[in-house]
Amino acid sequence: MVGLDLAGRTVVVTGAGQGQGAAEARLLVDAGARVIATDLGPEPPPGLGAVFSGGPLTYRQLDVTDGPGWAKLAEWIRSQGWQVDGLVNNAGITQRSRLLDASVADLQRVYEVNVAGSLLGIQALAPLMRSGASIVNVGSVAGLTAHYPVAYTASKWALRGLSQVAAMELGPRGIRVNTVHPGFIETPMTQGAKPEFRQATLAETPLGRTGSVEEVAGVVLFLLSPLSSFVTGAEIPVDGGQAGHGGAKSVSDALR
Ligand code: NAI
Repeated sequence: MVGLDLAGRTVVVTGAGQGQGAAEARLLVDAGARVIATDLGPEPPPGLGAVFSGGPLTYRQLDVTDGPGWAKLAEWIRSQGWQVDGLVNNAGITQRSRLLDASVADLQRVYEVNVAGSLLGIQALAPLMRSGASIVNVGSVAGLTAHYPVAYTASKWALRGLSQVAAMELGPRGIRVNTVHPGFIETPMTQGAKPEFRQATLAETPLGRTGSVEEVAGVVLFLLSPLSSFVTGAEIPVDGGQAGHGGAKSVSDALR
């Protein structure tokens, strides 16, 4: 029976040291996958929980902006005799400057991680994938809206374009590429969010609360699993309904 079981599959998760990436790595291990969790540090971060070297969860240091680093990872996977069945391009950074203050350097830095990092991952690992493999890119509600931090928002819109091209180009090989768009998720990235930001976001969110890392991980697992075998080029907001109403919520609320 087709299900969420990923036994026998190898999945690479970037930015897996904390937040959503760590939750995704943990859930994928629970689903039976062999997970290669990667992040910036040389050692497995505590957020990852117990690491069983050579077991279902292996940690590797990887800066997603580092092309030779990706090549080294691909080479290592090949040397283990493994193929790659899944890639979660989760690593991302935020950048909060606004339209009239954002510098070209701000734009370049977020693009380097959020867009180029995902491109490099696809380029390095697609050769190790066969039909049935699945790539999940982690976008953002920012990539569906005019979220105010301009460089971050532009990077996530760009990632959508990359995802769609990849879905088209890799489809004939049986490789699927989809995007999840998290809303406000409680992670170290959002820990420092101003109370005003939190309040205003909740006012725009029909479910009236923030999301958890597990709630994003569940959708990522679905997209990596055979249950979504005919889904590619899709974009799934995991945002409590924030993006779907297109700004109509404040009007609706005003007329209650
Ligand atoms: P986080 O900041 O808690 O975790 C991000 C991880 O990425 C960290 O472990 C960090 O070390 C790693 N990372 C950063 N730069 C890297 C690089 N160059 N190479 C490799 N790893 C790198 O963030 P969170 O919230 O878990 O974010 C995960 C993804 O979700 C990001 O792509 C983010 O843009 C996206 N997102 C997060 C939202 C939220 O509310 N937390 C909302 C929408 C999207």
